[in-house]
Amino acid sequence: MLIEFEDVTKRYEGGTAALDGLTLRVEAGEALAVLGPSGSGKSTLLNLVAGLDRPTSGTVTVDGVRVDRLGEAASAQYRRRRIGMVFQFFNLLDDLTVLDNVLMPAQLAGTHRAKALRRANELLEHLGVAKHAKAFPGRLSGGERQRVAVARALMNRPPLLLADEPTGALDTASGEEVRKLLTELNRDGQTLLLVTHDLALAEACATRTIYLVDGRLAGSGVPA
Ligand SMILES: Nc1ncnc2c1ncn2[C@@H]1O[C@H](COP(=O)(O)OP(=O)(O)O)[C@@H](O)[C@H]1O
Ligand SMILES: [Mg+2]
Repeated sequence: MLIEFEDVTKRYEGGTAALDGLTLRVEAGEALAVLGPSGSGKSTLLNLVAGLDRPTSGTVTVDGVRVDRLGEAASAQYRRRRIGMVFQFFNLLDDLTVLDNVLMPAQLAGTHRAKALRRANELLEHLGVAKHAKAFPGRLSGGERQRVAVARALMNRPPLLLADEPTGALDTASGEEVRKLLTELNRDGQTLLLVTHDLALAEACATRTIYLVDGRLAGSGVPA
């Protein structure tokens, strides 16, 4: 089991529960889409998986690591090694080239430069943005930027790729590109956890869909 949530509750100060007794298991190789209205706890779920936040109660285990018990340094190391993250607004560094953005996670992990360069160029090639390696992200289309962000997320070969509304800021054509890309990655064995409002993304890519309402599991399905 790659992800195990055991009776997880997250309560922010003064508020009601953002997650309320959630139990969830995700196997390696799945592409799980998490749907639900705004405020239903989707981002909270991702943040707990990424170790960016801690549950109020319950346990979070990812790839054998008790993420809810990690200290700050161990948590950063956990993310570097096991988690790739893709965001709605790309979060690329605009004053670094595309190539340097993709190299960043390898640098932080202390990977040998030549090896990292090989991997980065391979990824840029595979994701169809190799011709932009020397360009700055601001020159690229939204779809291209998201491909670069995916390349960066995959740099350290994480067992788990998390995406929070990865098509949320894209036009129709770019959204379609990214849907295809994520679907292909999953077919090649990459485990995905997608938080999205994009039903087309869930339909194209997800092997399983869950619905959150008020921090609780309100339903689930496997696409036809
Ligand atoms: N840092 C925070 N402090 C206080 N309340 C928060 C914080 N983050 C999220 N919440 C609350 O938790 C609930 C779930 O939020 P979130 O996980 O962001 O939902 P979603 O991503 O589904 O829109 C919401 O009611 C939100 O207001
Ligand atoms: Mg959110």
